[in-house]
Amino acid sequence: MIRTRRVRPEDADALAALVQRNREFLKPWEPQRDEAHYTVAGQRAGIDAALEQYERGLMVPQVILDDVDIVGRVFLTGIAYGAARSCDITYWVSGEANGRGIATDAVGQLRQYAFDVMGLHRVQAASLVHNVASQKVLERNGFRRFGLAPSYLHIAGRWQDHVLFQALAP
Ligand SMILES: CC(C)(COP(=O)(O)OP(=O)(O)OC[C@H]1O[C@@H](n2cnc3c(N)ncnc32)[C@H](O)[C@@H]1OP(=O)(O)O)[C@@H](O)C(=O)NCCC(=O)NCCS
Repeated sequence: MIRTRRVRPEDADALAALVQRNREFLKPWEPQRDEAHYTVAGQRAGIDAALEQYERGLMVPQVILDDVDIVGRVFLTGIAYGAARSCDITYWVSGEANGRGIATDAVGQLRQYAFDVMGLHRVQAASLVHNVASQKVLERNGFRRFGLAPSYLHIAGRWQDHVLFQALAP
């Protein structure tokens, strides 16, 4: 069973092992990471920062569990209230667990959380133009593409264009 739960400080060991194992797999899809990112201490610092943002209502940092094992991450970030009531969704799933519908399931759960629990109006996602797998995950969860953002995010060492998607609350 796929479920997500809030990341915990004690997840640092498992997450460090996971990002080490997926270093080459994730490289083309992520910002450039420093060496600390691949250590337990670096992961622990990232978790602490994420939980601090969670306490302030700015982020929902979840790990993805396949039964009891952590197989990835799905975050709601950039949560904005006021007239926008919007957030972004970002995610990754460990390479060896790909192709089993895990991201589709996890993104669906967080989309529902954003609308039903947080009362948000809109969830946005940005996908590299050639990230077909991610676009499939979004489309299967009712996200619609609405634009192309030139040089939107600094990924794998350069500013890259992204396709923007959004899902609106039912
Ligand atoms: C994108 C990602 C999250 C997908 O995770 P996943 O658990 O494999 O996703 P799912 O199994 O739910 O769905 C992926 C779909 O894309 C398909 N797919 C994978 N690679 C593909 C490709 N190159 N071209 C076309 N379809 C592809 C899969 O077959 C699957 O579709 P299917 O169920 O119809 O067979 C994962 O590959 C990942 O973490 N990538 C690196 C980080 C990343 O890109 N994050 C998203 C940033 S927007």
